[in-house]
Amino acid sequence: MRRKVIAALALIVLAACTKESTQPSQPATPAAAATKAAPPAALVRDPHSFSHPDEARVEHLALDLNVDFAKKQLSGTATLNIHREANANTLVLDTRDLDIRSVTLLPSNAAAQVTLGNADAIMGRALTIPLAADTNAVRIDYSTNPSAGALQWLEPPQTAGKKHPFLLSQSEAILARTWVPIQDSPSVRFTYEATLHVPKELLAVMSAENPQQKSADGVYHFKMPQAIPSYLLAIAVGDLEFHAFSDNSGVYAEPSVLPKAAHEFEDTPKMIAATSEQYGPYRWGRYDLLVLPPSFPYGGMENPRLTFLTPTVIAGDKSLVSLIAHELAHSWSGNLVTNATWNDFWLNEGFTTYIEHRITEKLYGRDYSEMLWALGRTECEEELATLSPGDQHLYINLAGRQPDDAPGIVYEKGALFLRAMEEAAGREQFDAFLRKYFESHAFQSMTTQRFVAYLRENLPGIYEKVSADAWINGPGLPPNAPKPQSQAFAKVEAQVKAFESGTKASELKTEGWSSHERVHFIQSLPPTLTPQRMAELDAQFHFSDSGNSEVLSAWLEKSIDTRYKAAYPAIERFLTTQGRRKFLTPLYKGLLAHPEDVAFAKQIYAKARPTYHSVSQGTLDALLNGK
Ligand code: BES
Ligand code: ZN
Repeated sequence: MRRKVIAALALIVLAACTKESTQPSQPATPAAAATKAAPPAALVRDPHSFSHPDEARVEHLALDLNVDFAKKQLSGTATLNIHREANANTLVLDTRDLDIRSVTLLPSNAAAQVTLGNADAIMGRALTIPLAADTNAVRIDYSTNPSAGALQWLEPPQTAGKKHPFLLSQSEAILARTWVPIQDSPSVRFTYEATLHVPKELLAVMSAENPQQKSADGVYHFKMPQAIPSYLLAIAVGDLEFHAFSDNSGVYAEPSVLPKAAHEFEDTPKMIAATSEQYGPYRWGRYDLLVLPPSFPYGGMENPRLTFLTPTVIAGDKSLVSLIAHELAHSWSGNLVTNATWNDFWLNEGFTTYIEHRITEKLYGRDYSEMLWALGRTECEEELATLSPGDQHLYINLAGRQPDDAPGIVYEKGALFLRAMEEAAGREQFDAFLRKYFESHAFQSMTTQRFVAYLRENLPGIYEKVSADAWINGPGLPPNAPKPQSQAFAKVEAQVKAFESGTKASELKTEGWSSHERVHFIQSLPPTLTPQRMAELDAQFHFSDSGNSEVLSAWLEKSIDTRYKAAYPAIERFLTTQGRRKFLTPLYKGLLAHPEDVAFAKQIYAKARPTYHSVSQGTLDALLNGK
């Protein structure tokens, strides 16, 4: 039975929810019992969600979806078990571009008279469901739109194998609502299960307990017994195979990519061991990787149990695996202790970047990790110089803005803040502090305010000693910001100087340089370098043909700055063969800054745009439209 939803006029604006949650919650299903989060200590109002989790909140989700590649559509049901406070008589969910066919109240099976609020360009529409006295769950019959923001439906030519289509998702920050009607706030946690029906030649995986082989009938069942926030909901469907690294870790990729991926990421079990040893047990069962086609808009995404990865980290020499350390670190900072709102995003990414550097140090040594710290600090300083003062804080106000477009400085500024605290407290003390922080807030959300209170209580004096307020609520990097010391980079800088003062490229001392040293060399070249001298470097080091995506991207950026036109075919190739936003944005920006390159940029974008994920399209549309 299909029933039309009654669209209502604008919904009443949400009341702030600051109440303490007092009632203990009942497990909604047996699956939910194991590791369900305790009721949130205090719910803060999330400016990016319509939901009222302090009244009625989702505790368990059960999906039953058909994956239709021809229609580019997910269609089926989402059943939500809910916990209600005493007087709660509505459940409010977030949706965007969903076609809601009907909502049924359970256990009564009565049809609900729901209202769908006006569409907000960023937040989508609130789905308000009036609850009956006995309602403890609702079933929503719905389908997604082909342009659902989280989902990318790839044609076979966009995959490595070129034979089968591929579906991938990216839910963070607020795109889960484009494929599941849910309380799409990082402060609401729920367990989930799913049944997916996919074409039988394809494998389906999720951020859950996963199959390792294709099923005969294309039907897959998933279970996620740990409570997660909605932004960690994930799905991928494609011609995938699995390779095991160990008993609890492995990698999924298309068959032609799998051997390279298996080799590149073989240190993953060591990373899991190193991180658990330092920050407490890994709480998610398995840790697997999924290598996606090159249109994936991010380097990596920490979907629990199954990190999603761009293939551009496969360099052949393991030089970019700190990205795995980063996504793995989110299993503590982010997935276990979660930013309560996107304004607190630094609690996810700053902590994670700090832990990433610490894991890298443990596995590959201090000289190596200092290079990454130094690259990070430089990148951070460059971005800080472009931001308004308010956007330079760790804690920022993103209300009314798309959180995916938030400034990236919270990564390295946040990491430096943690390093400043580590240096002030001593490493041993600070490690113990972080370990206890994860342990005592596991499966809970965290606000900046609560973190500050916890810091004051558990590391007395450190707040003042590092001027924490200047880090959290002030612009720029405070004067006491740690300065990474890289001997290796000092040598690289000497070679840049030598080159600037006339030494031939063939006479530079670059032997044994890692890709990080090459990146630092390229980034340190002056923008006044002549195209002839760029050509000399290219002839010597073949940067325009580099198979290392970080080296290539740094080189192509420098080629635009120095007007080295011989690299332009390589720019076009790079922009049309991968869709990672971090690589696309600076190149398009660079081209647009030169009037004679604008037509070139627009022509490439017209061709490449349909191959990019909506996250990259959104950022680039804003850059290129009207120019
Ligand atoms: N969680 C992020 C990706 C993300 C952030 C998606 C905000 C949507 C909104 C992920 O952990 C990440 O930070 N990825 C980085 C890699 C990292 C090594 C800096 C990326 O994609 O470049
Ligand atoms: Zn991250």
